[in-house]
Amino acid sequence: MTSSTSRYSDYDPWAWLYNRSEAHLALQGLMPLLDKLLFPHLPENGQILDVCCGTGQVSKQLIQQGYQVTGLDGSEKMLHYARENAPQGKFLLDDARSFTLPSTFDAAISTDSSLNHIMSLDELQQVFQNVYAALKQGGRFLFDLGLENRYRNIEVNDGELQADYAWTVGETYDADNKTGTFTITLFQPADSDASPSLTNSDKRSHSIPQRLKRFVYNRVLRVLRPGLLPQLIDKYWQSLPMTFTAKPYSQAEVRAALEVVGFTQVEVYDFRARRATPQRKDYAYFLAQKPSGQA
Ligand SMILES: C[S@@+](CC[C@H](N)C(=O)[O-])C[C@H]1O[C@@H](n2cnc3c(N)ncnc32)[C@H](O)[C@@H]1O
Repeated sequence: MTSSTSRYSDYDPWAWLYNRSEAHLALQGLMPLLDKLLFPHLPENGQILDVCCGTGQVSKQLIQQGYQVTGLDGSEKMLHYARENAPQGKFLLDDARSFTLPSTFDAAISTDSSLNHIMSLDELQQVFQNVYAALKQGGRFLFDLGLENRYRNIEVNDGELQADYAWTVGETYDADNKTGTFTITLFQPADSDASPSLTNSDKRSHSIPQRLKRFVYNRVLRVLRPGLLPQLIDKYWQSLPMTFTAKPYSQAEVRAALEVVGFTQVEVYDFRARRATPQRKDYAYFLAQKPSGQA
């Protein structure tokens, strides 16, 4: 991303991998949290805007709860999977910093630290402004964010080894610029397609030693020594690194930006939907309301 006015499309190259290996993580614990903090305030069949909806697994869950869902994302490839995963949803290719929608939504959500990709407080405030405008009076906005201590200098902190692909993710933090960077390195057999079909498995990796290696890595070593992955994969596999930047924000900054655009009743929660103390500096959920009786 160079220009703040262009559409954020950085997820295009790893959309298939996100869809396959990451999206389910975003769902962990989310439905109970929404059940507690959001659903009780929504009308039956209410309209929810899923900001930065990605591959649509969260949208799908909301639809299954009976809501009408519009997902918005800057990545065309992520939306391709979203349309497959949640065919009853409506999906819009647009940027969170510049979209305009009429005030028809009962609620908006944004999950899996998507808004940490908004790289300045001014732009984050612009996102809040756009969401505010899209909400009906009394509508609520619930989103999660990584806070100051979210990004750590860990070279490799997760990974996965499969028959025909593997990946690692590592994070670093530049304290001077307050910018987190995570690099996903994708490994694939040299002869696989650039945009993998994943049906074209490498036959060598179906041998028993290979299956055992995958099993041990994914069940044991991935937790204990994720950095071991590059040593385990076939030497002929190619690697493709993809780098993403993320900006952590403090609770106070987020609260102020929400209030400036008109949100009220801003509350901060942990992942179990318990009130977070102001000292919390890793992750938090923010819940804010557009006041009733205002345009
Ligand atoms: C970590 S994924 C989360 C996807 C989904 N919310 C989930 O929980 O699975 C982040 C998503 O945010 C989208 N995104 C980041 N910045 C964006 C922006 N400025 N406008 C639109 N989408 C954006 C990316 O394209 C990506 O799909």
